[in-house]
Amino acid sequence: KARELPGGNSEIAWEALREEAMSCTRCHLYKHATQTVFGEGPVSASIMFVGEQPGDQEDLAGHPFVGPAGQLFDRALGEAGIDRSQTYVTNAVKHFKFEPRGKRRIHAKPDGSEIEACRWWIEQEQMLVRPKVTVALGATAARSLFGKVLTISRERGRAQRLPGDGGEAWITVHPSYLLRLPDEAARTTEFARFVEDLRLAKVAAA
Ligand code: URA
Repeated sequence: KARELPGGNSEIAWEALREEAMSCTRCHLYKHATQTVFGEGPVSASIMFVGEQPGDQEDLAGHPFVGPAGQLFDRALGEAGIDRSQTYVTNAVKHFKFEPRGKRRIHAKPDGSEIEACRWWIEQEQMLVRPKVTVALGATAARSLFGKVLTISRERGRAQRLPGDGGEAWITVHPSYLLRLPDEAARTTEFARFVEDLRLAKVAAA
């Protein structure tokens, strides 16, 4: 179902896009990050997940969602019966933004101009993958995909239309939100809600 580009196949177009993104200087974040962390997964995927930005471990590994949030995401996908290798996983912002604190690099939230600069890449990924369903993981992803600030609690749990011809979207929390909850009981309840949101997206993409 992947869109065939004139004169080439979409896997090849994706490889070229990824290669181009490796030397992106559309905003200043490339200056301190280790590398661009591009999206991953088959261009024929029917579900695309969009996170916020790579974290410390993703920045070093060069792959999205491999650190603590990624592990929680993997567990939730497993419970929702979604095979990650059949999905396309990417981020709204493709360089790690952080504040140095001693030897540590502390995650810093991307601002509107960084999200806007990086939106060009997401749009290219959307055009190549053309997923049936896009899932925004958290507020940054939702802001990038919808071009406006949305409140997750108000928008989650129902199908949305992406601007233009972007198809169906579902909005849910970011897995890091679950990691930050201080209370064990809340973490359990919120994890179950997250899994439920993923199940809804899976059904929509079937
Ligand atoms: N958080 C994200 O939003 N994306 C990643 O790739 C890792 C953590």
